[in-house]
Amino acid sequence: MSPRLANRVADFGTTIFSEMTALAVRHGAINLGQGFPDFDGPESVKAVAMRAIAEGRNQYAVGVGQPDLRAAIASHARRHYGQEVDPESMVTITTGATEAIYAAIQGLIDPGDEVIVLEPFYDSYVPAVQMAGGVPRYVPLHPPGPNDTAWRLDLDELNAAFNNRTRVILINTPHNPTGKAFSADELKAIAILCVAWDVVAITDEVYEHLVYGTTRHLRLALQPGMTERTITIGSLGKSFSFTGWKIGWAIAAPALTPAVRRTHQYITFAAPIPLQAAAAAALTEGDAVVHALAVDFEQKRDYLFGVLREVGLRPVLPDAGYFILADATEFMPRGGPDGAALCRWLTTEIGVAAIPLSAFYSPEHQTETRGRIRFAFCKQQATLEQAAERLRRLKP
Ligand SMILES: Cc1ncc(COP(=O)(O)O)c(C=O)c1O
Repeated sequence: MSPRLANRVADFGTTIFSEMTALAVRHGAINLGQGFPDFDGPESVKAVAMRAIAEGRNQYAVGVGQPDLRAAIASHARRHYGQEVDPESMVTITTGATEAIYAAIQGLIDPGDEVIVLEPFYDSYVPAVQMAGGVPRYVPLHPPGPNDTAWRLDLDELNAAFNNRTRVILINTPHNPTGKAFSADELKAIAILCVAWDVVAITDEVYEHLVYGTTRHLRLALQPGMTERTITIGSLGKSFSFTGWKIGWAIAAPALTPAVRRTHQYITFAAPIPLQAAAAAALTEGDAVVHALAVDFEQKRDYLFGVLREVGLRPVLPDAGYFILADATEFMPRGGPDGAALCRWLTTEIGVAAIPLSAFYSPEHQTETRGRIRFAFCKQQATLEQAAERLRRLKP
């Protein structure tokens, strides 16, 4: 029997991330596709989780999140951004940032409401909008030209996307997959439009601490008029290299918090309690660890950037995050007709897995990505060196 799937999920298919990871495993390729570190976060944080299990903290957590973790998130926001956050009425703990995004959208969107999504986008955004019956409205980020250093938001295009049906804008800063950290001017322009059109911003800030060089992460919630209309989403996974723990959170003004909590209570109800205990410890004591991780990742970014450039993959240096986008158009006749074919070829013939940029676009805009592909550098140096050795096979 092949069961009939609901219309709203029938088109979802399997993600390219799962496909490339499976292909990498089958061919013994080094997986620079999926964004997860091939090492663990701090032992001291793992020890807190293990102690919590051993000491019997194994039953349901408080639905909205354990008080100590919510307090740690409020204190973290104050320490890093000078943001005043009341842990009781403004913080909700979720099963990863992915659940926070999903819960917020389900809590805000009625069928027919429009959600502005910047393209390229993280892959869970559009399905979350569609499952709520919402309509994604795409605004492109433009690849850097010869005189730019980062992907660019055209404010006229953004302005044109707002209308009476716009309910939410989804902003991801620092941005996956481009590595763009939105500037103060861009955030100001977004804020002015949100206030003018009475729109809520959901900001996905999971890479908040992984910023390089002189780049600083800025919070949209702190722009004038945005405190009451922003849901700021974070995650333990990226800052502390525990992506498998799936501890995330949403910070929102008291009047906006029910948008997350009403849905969260029926999606997962609560996130795993021992991991919340460890997350509270990490966020309270872990600033130095996070800083050291960012310093280390900056070196890895520079190393992989150098290798990609050396072999002719034309990378763009990212300001933040886990990833480097490269332009592999030159290898297209040899490697296949598009980015997806190129990534399969790289995995099976060269032994290094990457993800096509097309995976971050709506079907109607995928062709614009041509031969751009994404490599993750959040790996041990030995892994990157092994990948470099294989990538050098690309050289003529
Ligand atoms: C932009 C972005 N948001 C959210 C997530 C997922 O976060 P979590 O694992 O906390 O659900 C990722 C993971 O790659 C991401 O890149």
